Amino acid sequence: MQREELASVSAALRAALALRARAGVRWVYPGSAPTAVAVTSAVRASALPIAATPALAARETLEGIRSDLGACTRCKLHEERTNVVFGVGNPRARLMFIGEGPGRDEDVQGEPFVGAAGQLLTKIIQAIGLEREDVYIANVVKSRPPNNRNPEPEEIAACLPFLERQIAAIGPAVIVGLGNVPVKTLLNTTRGITSIRGQWQTYRGIPFMPTFHPSYLLRQEDDDKTAKRQVWDDMQAVAVRYNEELPAGEKAAKAKPAK
Ligand code: URA
Repeated sequence: MQREELASVSAALRAALALRARAGVRWVYPGSAPTAVAVTSAVRASALPIAATPALAARETLEGIRSDLGACTRCKLHEERTNVVFGVGNPRARLMFIGEGPGRDEDVQGEPFVGAAGQLLTKIIQAIGLEREDVYIANVVKSRPPNNRNPEPEEIAACLPFLERQIAAIGPAVIVGLGNVPVKTLLNTTRGITSIRGQWQTYRGIPFMPTFHPSYLLRQEDDDKTAKRQVWDDMQAVAVRYNEELPAGEKAAKAKPAK
């Protein structure tokens, strides 16, 4: 191919990719190259590290979902809450943690998992070599249940569409469900966390690991390490799966399971 021809194809390809990037597409698989561009096999080969699914183009943004949620009054939890607690982290996270609902600290600060359980969750994330900024953290309900009671079915039903949209927008490769509420809600199961933890499940095709909630670990006697060890085991499995699910060339941080 002539130098000018190559330059013009490459400029057109860059422009088309920039267009897609503005539409939220980060990866373009070779087979889904923009149709408006005459892409030769040489250019296709050089585009290999850039990959995408057509579904990505249709993804909505977290900002859009947050804006739809607004100052939510869809259930009675709004009456006593201070802040809506939407979610925090990398909007393109490959790993997503889902808890139950905000506690007092989260209600005050408007961010999930910032209290004692949150500090333990941060350590759990760091134990597999990642940081909070690498992952995305959200809850089933976005307003604090009074006195940290479990959210009621109609409260979960009002909030669930927003969590489902968050998951679809982020497109994680692996989800970790923390405790009974997210596990029963997302997997539509009645199995309790003690029986299901540590066993891979699937949420809409995404590998889903149920494990204990950090608050449960904090309630264990110091000398009873059983639940902590079980969460450690579950997170080792998550780290391995997370690394396996990273597409070739993906820039996301690698997890570090213990050797
Ligand atoms: N517990 C949860 O389930 N979520 C939080 O954000 C904090 C504590």
